[in-house]
Amino acid sequence: MPRMRLDKLLAHLNCGSRKEVQAMIRAGRVQVDGATERDPAAKVESDTAQVVLDGQTQQYQAQRYYMLNKPAGVITASRDARHSTVLDLFPEEIRRGLFAVGRLDKDTEGLLIVTDDGALSHALMSPSRHVEKVYEATVEGELLPDAEIRFEKGLTLKDGTVCLPARLERLTGDGAQRVRVILREGKYHQVKRMVAAVGGVVVQLRRVQLGGLRLDPALAEGAFRALTDQELTMLQKPASESI
Ligand code: URA
Repeated sequence: MPRMRLDKLLAHLNCGSRKEVQAMIRAGRVQVDGATERDPAAKVESDTAQVVLDGQTQQYQAQRYYMLNKPAGVITASRDARHSTVLDLFPEEIRRGLFAVGRLDKDTEGLLIVTDDGALSHALMSPSRHVEKVYEATVEGELLPDAEIRFEKGLTLKDGTVCLPARLERLTGDGAQRVRVILREGKYHQVKRMVAAVGGVVVQLRRVQLGGLRLDPALAEGAFRALTDQELTMLQKPASESI
């Protein structure tokens, strides 16, 4: 049975950085199996111990799932000598073993799942699963009047790439031309290339949904949080029949 330091376990559970959870433990805010534990180095059975912080039971999960609101300017990679990566946004003590599910361009923002669950990643990215991805974009240029229909029929890009049927919606709003794009695949620069094929130029792109999981609007750019059990279930939901 895995034994682990209490501070390490709480950091894994995303209760705070190692320093922060040590302060919580010393302050008497943490109970292990019913007794207050003030020693951050105390060893606990990570699988079975009942760990309570401020009255809330913390569930140890062998696998970890985070929702990240990716900011523009960081690349979707684990490590890079020259560029900041999405994993640099995670503190050292929880970063180990994590990777991003799929890829967003450096200048794309929004929902990115970061996990250590290879099977989930594979299932979400498998082309045959057709997991729905929803993007919102600011677009310049004049979109063709029948752009929506072309998306629905399945576009062929300039280089001959054939896209699955997708959806384009023009969003009304504040002056800038905003669109929503719903895809069931993830080809290289796909949204930008599809919008280009109907006369537009994407100048800002944000992913707002993956499968049934929506980006939490309260999550600041660059911030992440653990998925709830319910969100994990929504992520695994099959695509709707909306396309
Ligand atoms: N489509 C793009 O063009 N870029 C992304 O990052 C994601 C989808």
